[in-house]
Amino acid sequence: MKVLFTGIQPTGLLHIGNYYGAIRNWVELQHKYKSYISIVDLHAITIAYDPEDMRKNVFDLALGLFACGINLERTILFIQSEVPGHAELTWTFNSITPLGELERMTQFKDKAGQHRKNVNVGLLDYPVLQAADILIYKGEIVPVGEDQVQHVEFTREVARRFNARYGDTFPECQAELTANPRIMGIDGSAKMSKSKGNFIGILESREEIWNKLAPAPTDPARVKRSDPGTPEKCNIYSYHQVVTPEPELTRYIAHGCRTAGIGCLDCKRKLLDNLMQVLDPIRERYHDLSGKKKEIRNILDRNAEACRKVSGQTILEVKEKMGLTPVWKV
Ligand code: TYM
Repeated sequence: MKVLFTGIQPTGLLHIGNYYGAIRNWVELQHKYKSYISIVDLHAITIAYDPEDMRKNVFDLALGLFACGINLERTILFIQSEVPGHAELTWTFNSITPLGELERMTQFKDKAGQHRKNVNVGLLDYPVLQAADILIYKGEIVPVGEDQVQHVEFTREVARRFNARYGDTFPECQAELTANPRIMGIDGSAKMSKSKGNFIGILESREEIWNKLAPAPTDPARVKRSDPGTPEKCNIYSYHQVVTPEPELTRYIAHGCRTAGIGCLDCKRKLLDNLMQVLDPIRERYHDLSGKKKEIRNILDRNAEACRKVSGQTILEVKEKMGLTPVWKV
């Protein structure tokens, strides 16, 4: 069975961009691959944060992922900082990574722009840690949204470079995208993300979501209810494309928009209904799991232990190949 590895930052909230762009895929693929999913707290500390929030966010994310359908039997969900090999492998990869490659990374440039007062080395080194995450388990399949594809390409490059210098050790992984790898924010102007505040959270109530959907922009050509529109130009339609079942989408939504058969508000109400059919059960499972904190903590402990074993073997292999074998072994 091939190894799947992916990660997610504990930034305090899961949104439908995460869900439809990535997590939905993880839930499906866990039946096909040996799956590791990491809550990447070491990545999250590269921007300013509150330690108390971090502790809470890490745990909430574990609950949220289980609520979304990550299966305890099928997937090893674990906390990155509880497995020291990730940081150790990062250091060895640092020594084969040209600085210029990291400076050219899109996400680094974006984040360095957003956090001008805190452009720390960790922010620059972020993709190297991500490469170590994947390669320490010899991951081959990396299901992510479009924004992470460059980091997966970089990981392939790290593997190639290591293999060329020290001998065949790591596989070349590939990114696996969902049908909708880039979910736009509620105003349609940028990718949905927590930091931009343009998100719909998966645990938000029907009312909270409606308060965001109701004023959201649609096709600008539809000024009056009777104006025909072009669904492909409407951000709400792009949400229908991920949320609404196909026959309903084409028969009712797309046709209704083109012929002015339905108004934008009705279209949004229909989206809300369809979305809540998916989110309501997730929220219920999340609340059920909230009462089982001890069991969840035990699972995370067990999983971290399993990851320490597997990653420890890779570290030994890497050290051996790099000539870092302890002297007492000679
Ligand atoms: P993160 O925490 O930003 O996002 C988690 C996953 O959600 C996807 N995603 C989206 N997909 C589509 N549309 C959107 N608007 C959207 N927003 C987020 C992301 O692409 C991602 O798949 N660097 C990674 C975490 C990471 C990782 C790894 C991933 C660390 N190590 C190793 C894969 C393998 C990150 O910040 O994801």
